[in-house]
Amino acid sequence: MILYHQTLADKCNKILEVGVGTGRSSQMFTQSFMKQGAIYINTDISEKMIEIFKKNLSVTGYDAEYQDTYTEILPEDDKKKIAILKANNEELPFPDEEFDCYISNLSLHIVNNHHNQLLEAYRVLKPESKAGFTVWGDRSRCRCFTFLEESLKKHGYDYSLDPSIAKSFEISDPVQLRKDTLAAGFKICKTFVVNLPFASKNPEDFLNFMVKGSFDMYAEEKDFDDATKEDLWNKVSIDFDTQFGPDSPEIPDFEQIVIIATK
Ligand SMILES: C[S@@+](CC[C@H](N)C(=O)[O-])C[C@H]1O[C@@H](n2cnc3c(N)ncnc32)[C@H](O)[C@@H]1O
Repeated sequence: MILYHQTLADKCNKILEVGVGTGRSSQMFTQSFMKQGAIYINTDISEKMIEIFKKNLSVTGYDAEYQDTYTEILPEDDKKKIAILKANNEELPFPDEEFDCYISNLSLHIVNNHHNQLLEAYRVLKPESKAGFTVWGDRSRCRCFTFLEESLKKHGYDYSLDPSIAKSFEISDPVQLRKDTLAAGFKICKTFVVNLPFASKNPEDFLNFMVKGSFDMYAEEKDFDDATKEDLWNKVSIDFDTQFGPDSPEIPDFEQIVIIATK
């Protein structure tokens, strides 16, 4: 929601959101701040995500028109119009200066080359319009992803984050990100850091949701016998409880860097 707010998306006529994934935030925006008469173009590189996006959006009572190639949509005063296309953030299929607003929630750190995405964001935006990005923050404050690695290390096991996850921390520097954004052409760039941990009913729920799957995969990879696996999982659960359980003030944090840029 920070991105929609900071880019003034609620006042825009033509909004682009890239790397939309399952469309959780797109659904919220469509149902709330998006203004009547506006056009909201969503993109993702994954066909599977696009399918899920369409399904999830339809549950809210809105439909996303699927476009093979980008075709301009005519606005209607009393309607919110939404479309979804397959597109790579680094090479967007839109003309120059097409959009009043550009949103990228948690995808800039995943693409092959984030400079290309910044350049494309700049290109497709109208002058004076705003782009908003979020990326993962400092690794030490993203314990929702790093907890298992730390806990296993403590018990003598070398567990390394999946390379695609580890790569996501490579651009987590607000000062450098600001420089990169200005280098792409934007005239103003503000960055700030927020902590937006995943919501869960209770710590146990989070442990099972975020940690258990990775732990099971690791146990299988290492070919642990049942007793070793159970013993290690108990230790991990105790560590989790000590760090984030009911007697601790902490939650498994997820720091994010927000970048707001004006063309
Ligand atoms: C972490 S998810 C974020 C999804 C959504 N924005 C959210 O906040 O819930 C990243 C999304 O970026 C998409 N993605 C990864 N690389 C991409 C690229 N080069 N171009 C477009 N989308 C990409 C993935 O398919 C995935 O759906």
